[in-house]
Amino acid sequence: MGAQTNVLSNVLSSAVLFFLCCSSNWYCGGTTTSIDLHPTDEKPSASDEQGEILRFRGINNGRAKISSKLMMSVADFGAKGDGKTDDTKAFLKAWKKACSSKNAIDLAIPKKKSYRLKPATFSGPCKSNITIKIDGAIEASADRSGYKRDVRHWIIFKKIENLIVEGDGTINGKGNVWWKNSCKINKSLPCTHAPTALTFKECKNLTVENITIKDAQQMHLSFQKCVNVEARNLLVTAPEKSPNTDGIHVTNTQNIKIINSTVGTGDDCISIVSGSQSVQATNITCGPGHGISIGSLGKGNAEAHVSDVMIDTAVINGTTNGVRIKTWQGGSGNANNITFQNIVMYNVKNPIIIDQNYCDQDDPCDEQESAVQISDILYKNITGTSASEVGVHFDCSKNHPCQDIVLQDIKLVRDEDGKTAKAKASCKNVKWTQIGKVSPGCKSDQLKQWYLKNEEEEEEDNIADDQVVYYADH
Ligand SMILES: *[C@@H]1O[C@H](CO)[C@@H](O)[C@H](O)[C@H]1NC(C)=O
Ligand SMILES: *[C@@H]1O[C@H](CO)[C@@H](O)[C@H](O)[C@H]1NC(C)=O
Ligand SMILES: *[C@@H]1O[C@H](CO)[C@@H](O)[C@H](O)[C@H]1NC(C)=O
Ligand SMILES: *[C@@H]1O[C@H](CO)[C@@H](O)[C@H](O)[C@H]1NC(C)=O
Ligand SMILES: *[C@@H]1O[C@H](CO)[C@@H](O)[C@H](O)[C@H]1NC(C)=O
Ligand SMILES: *[C@@H]1O[C@H](CO)[C@@H](O)[C@H](O)[C@H]1NC(C)=O
Ligand SMILES: *[C@@H]1O[C@H](CO)[C@@H](O)[C@H](O)[C@H]1NC(C)=O
Ligand SMILES: *[C@@H]1O[C@H](CO)[C@@H](O)[C@H](O)[C@H]1NC(C)=O
Ligand SMILES: *[C@@H]1O[C@H](CO)[C@@H](O)[C@H](O)[C@H]1NC(C)=O
Repeated sequence: MGAQTNVLSNVLSSAVLFFLCCSSNWYCGGTTTSIDLHPTDEKPSASDEQGEILRFRGINNGRAKISSKLMMSVADFGAKGDGKTDDTKAFLKAWKKACSSKNAIDLAIPKKKSYRLKPATFSGPCKSNITIKIDGAIEASADRSGYKRDVRHWIIFKKIENLIVEGDGTINGKGNVWWKNSCKINKSLPCTHAPTALTFKECKNLTVENITIKDAQQMHLSFQKCVNVEARNLLVTAPEKSPNTDGIHVTNTQNIKIINSTVGTGDDCISIVSGSQSVQATNITCGPGHGISIGSLGKGNAEAHVSDVMIDTAVINGTTNGVRIKTWQGGSGNANNITFQNIVMYNVKNPIIIDQNYCDQDDPCDEQESAVQISDILYKNITGTSASEVGVHFDCSKNHPCQDIVLQDIKLVRDEDGKTAKAKASCKNVKWTQIGKVSPGCKSDQLKQWYLKNEEEEEEDNIADDQVVYYADH
């Protein structure tokens, strides 16, 4: 009898829970509330005739698992969504409730509403899995003084496991007021930081799907110290002239897949920086902006590591760079096992580029001994048009040349106002292999020179030969 009582009380308490939820400021998701009973081999007992509930008795051991998925809306917590009211408090209240719920939760941000938010951090760990359904709009307040405490972030999700963020809604950073005040736009202003619109920090098993992120104050979406991430069907947009508005930034994150996404902003479409490993980007449409970047790495003599990156299937249109690896002089560490493949470029200024003398500051950068070692990089099946005469540009470190760079099936031509012309390759301090038809390619006499130069033991400081630009002749 004990087991049976147990089932009954579990089912009853679930019914009570159901009733409470449906009748208070929660609402129930019809089909999503379910009672999930696990079968066992326990024998049926005598008094099981009546009731739907006890139908399960014979196949249940009394440890009935009640898994009801609950639904709630930010509206239930007082969020107005009128585009004017500050809804931050209501969102945080809703999060607190969701995060402490023992049952899995869908938290809705209803469509046709526009919720205004100040900087907000939604922290875990949470008691159960949460799905946030963003169907409406979330907009940043334009008041810059609201960011005094932390000028680098607007919305943060932190230390949450199994979080899903999905929906047809939009997250809008209303970045214009920040762009105007950027030193890159108005040179008479001091350089300051601006917020990243949406940051996921230290999350595990994270899915972000279908949402639109636009007009971020600075970066749009940042994955920071996360593990196991899937980002699908995202649309990320900002004007080409908006400063430092990277689309998707990946830092210190392992095992991330970015799939079916379209990014066009004023900076990198995707930037992958130190501590990131096992990064896949598949079916990406990129442009305008600065292209897909590994780096920058090694700034301020930092040690950096990026490895196992696969960029597969992309259209890159009207960007300053296509696929780029950029490092500062003086760094250390490495960037290796990186593949860029099946990529079509349209009107891209530097389609394929490795820049180990990256220097994004007003003062010139000093020449330094050390460098982030770049090795094992494959460029395969990359075609299209270059907006400059140099289609392939390898400017590698003199002291730590790029190793094992493979060009395979490359066809890039120069686009001069609709007329095509040959593109060139500039290959400095790089050890490369070419497979299939490669145009423009590094010239074999340059490889020879590289070997010779390295045997010479860096005699003098000024080798003019390695500055030569070689013309492709395929
Ligand atoms: C939470 O989600 C993870 C991954 O989908 C799943 O393995 C786990 O069973 C879920 N936990 C609960 C309590 O539903
Ligand atoms: C640039 O900033 C200066 C100093 O705040 C300001 O006076 C000027 O109007 C700004 N220029 C533009 C074009 O906004
Ligand atoms: C992550 O998800 C996988 C399967 O989706 C699951 O097996 C694993 O337990 C989850 N990890 C955490 C920390 O919940
Ligand atoms: C995301 O969008 C795709 C395509 O519109 C749709 O098939 C899918 O169901 C959506 N996913 C969610 C979780 O709404
Ligand atoms: C990518 O989009 C295509 C077409 O909409 C869809 O078939 C595919 O399932 C999507 N992939 C993922 C991982 O969402
Ligand atoms: C690639 O992603 C786009 C969305 O950016 C989608 O429309 C398209 O169907 C996807 N293609 C494939 C082959 O998955
Ligand atoms: C190189 O990276 C790919 C992912 O792009 C991974 O599958 C492969 O195992 C890595 N190779 C090595 C030697 O680590
Ligand atoms: C490239 O972008 C331009 C400007 O947005 C657009 O007009 C053109 O159709 C795009 N080309 C391709 C092939 O996507
Ligand atoms: C080369 O890449 C293009 C663009 O992604 C793709 O359509 C084509 O199938 C690829 N070719 C091969 C041989 O894989």
